Amino acid sequence: MKVLVIGGGAREHALCRSLSLDPDVTALHCAPGNAGIAEVAELHRVDALDGAAVAELASGLNADLVVIGPEAPLVAGVADAVRAAGVPVFGPSAQAARLEGSKAFAKDVMAGANVPTARSYVCTTAEEIEAALAAFGAPYVVKDDGLAAGKGVVVTDDVAEARAHALACERVVIEEYLDGPEVSLFAITDGVTVLPLQPAQDFKRALDGDEGPNTGGMGAYSPLPWSDPRLVEEVMDSVLQPTVDELRRRGTPFSGLLYAGLAITSRGVRVIEFNARFGDPETQVVLARLRTPLAGVLLNAARGTLDAQPPLVWRNEAAVTVVIASHNYPGPPRTGDPIEGLAEVAAKDAPYAYVLHAGTRYEGEAVVSAGGRVLSVTATGADLAQARERAYSAVERIRLDGAQHRTDIAAKAAAGL
Ligand code: AMP
Ligand code: GLY
Repeated sequence: MKVLVIGGGAREHALCRSLSLDPDVTALHCAPGNAGIAEVAELHRVDALDGAAVAELASGLNADLVVIGPEAPLVAGVADAVRAAGVPVFGPSAQAARLEGSKAFAKDVMAGANVPTARSYVCTTAEEIEAALAAFGAPYVVKDDGLAAGKGVVVTDDVAEARAHALACERVVIEEYLDGPEVSLFAITDGVTVLPLQPAQDFKRALDGDEGPNTGGMGAYSPLPWSDPRLVEEVMDSVLQPTVDELRRRGTPFSGLLYAGLAITSRGVRVIEFNARFGDPETQVVLARLRTPLAGVLLNAARGTLDAQPPLVWRNEAAVTVVIASHNYPGPPRTGDPIEGLAEVAAKDAPYAYVLHAGTRYEGEAVVSAGGRVLSVTATGADLAQARERAYSAVERIRLDGAQHRTDIAAKAAAGL
């Protein structure tokens, strides 16, 4: 099977790594990729937001499957263009990707499917905003309706800050604050059949102890020893299957990866948000635990034959990933700094720990930083404590001037807290 992956972050490196280990995959291509992905896939240049260009690349490569990593191409309709060219694609249509592209649309789908989520108002005027803020009180949760690259959500006790963010959005969702630990649960679906993966938790804040600004995610782990063993089953029944059924009923079936961001509140599980693609960095730990070869599962979803997919098999192991970010991230990052120590990790820590690249590129022979999140150092172990130890000893070998990482990824869970 010839596979083309679109994207160039650590999530795509994790996807490419798994695909490269799949005996059914005979050729692996990625566009645009990064310095790490170049080691397992042939890289191509393409404007990932240009559906015609991606379709042409896929056809030219005789790809049997295209996997679209990030949300922006999905929302822009790239999956539709590839599908129209007759190439199976893992990733939802633009219509279905509105589940991530519009928070108001997601709320409407959840209401239609009776999926538990925060009570909310969609506001377009200052009067509506005032009324909604007053109705819920602090802490205020204010969400830009559209895609905002992780900067659309403000959670604050300060009504002036909440108001200012709301007024700066064209359309805004203001909702009830949800208390409780967050869980990411992914499901692979062809629009009818839903196959849940294993839950993971990510760490959104920049600094240890969940302090500092929100980021794209500074680390993740799986499994969640503290969670209810029936969690996956419960979320399947109350969230994932009803949402997939509702989108099919509306004539816009969702095929691809449905990502449920959940809060485990004292009153039960609530959806915080949906995404229409694999999450980053959770994908790094979920795929590290998946034993079933990945390509066939994604192809079954793309072709609408997921009902024929044998049950997924998981390693009885834990996985932890620690993100190494550039100086100043999540502000405008410094880039172009050389990264050293990658060969040492490959020589001393493989196969238990390995480095997935996020924002990196080659400058001559040297690998240099090229984005905010630079590397995602991933490790597996018999339990979270061992996976953590392995991940952090690999992190210690990496040298990148001004880099930052959290030191407490999975620490509480590993300690049984
Ligand atoms: P994102 O949409 O990925 O930028 O994530 C925003 C983050 O804001 C989530 O991961 C939560 O931590 C937080 N958040 C979003 N909605 C709520 C809510 N209703 N109650 C509490 N926290 C929320
Ligand atoms: N881990 C958060 C995200 O992928 O949006």
